[in-house]
Amino acid sequence: MTGTAAWPGDRVVRTFGSLGGGSITFTTVELTDLPEFSPADYRRIVGDEPDPFGTDQLGISRRAKSDHVGLTDEGRLIAHAGWVAATVRTESGATLEVLGLGSVVVHRDRRGHGAGRQLVAGTMEKMRERQVPMAVLFCRTERLPFYERLGWLPVEADVTVDQPDGTIVMPLLTCWVPLVEGAVMPAGRLRVEGLPF
Ligand SMILES: CC(C)(COP(=O)(O)OP(=O)(O)OC[C@H]1O[C@@H](n2cnc3c(N)ncnc32)[C@H](O)[C@@H]1OP(=O)(O)O)[C@@H](O)C(=O)NCCC(=O)NCCS
Repeated sequence: MTGTAAWPGDRVVRTFGSLGGGSITFTTVELTDLPEFSPADYRRIVGDEPDPFGTDQLGISRRAKSDHVGLTDEGRLIAHAGWVAATVRTESGATLEVLGLGSVVVHRDRRGHGAGRQLVAGTMEKMRERQVPMAVLFCRTERLPFYERLGWLPVEADVTVDQPDGTIVMPLLTCWVPLVEGAVMPAGRLRVEGLPF
């Protein structure tokens, strides 16, 4: 039997049958719900990587996520995304219920091979089951192309969020994606009630 790993984010292991009768192809990376996701699980993914999100210097307090999704490879957790319900107020005073996506991280040795795309696309599928109109996330500008390829759109106006000491304009880029057909983020400034995600 011979095995060749293609690229690890969506690692395809090609196995050639010992009888020479063709090949079986299967993917070992799977999207999975993580109802018991713990800080220890998070550490297993990020290891000793300092500041994996590159945002530590901003000192932003974020809220805990209620739902967790991961990618496993042969049982080993290699990526995580979490989400939580949130309320957004628009400039006109309307209230929007959204799902806030955050803590999107792929083990550093597994980046750049499609795992992040598989993770976020799969998480979006799960979020769509909630029938909430849209999802929102915060990211560094350099991550925008990654999210745009998955259908996310940047918010041009200021977005304010709560922090323990008061309200701030979010220093990260805000992006949103419709989760139900026809959902549109209103133009203008937004206020996310509570901590960001
Ligand atoms: C952001 C992050 C989750 C993306 O995960 P990833 O596994 O690297 O993402 P993908 O491989 O799906 O896509 C990343 C890039 O690899 C490229 N790529 C995708 N599939 C590929 C493949 N099969 N072969 C080679 N490259 C591939 C994509 O084109 C993409 O290019 P881009 O950087 O220009 O967008 C990951 O880099 C990470 O964990 N970063 C640290 C934490 C972080 O910043 N999280 C985001 C917080 S908002």
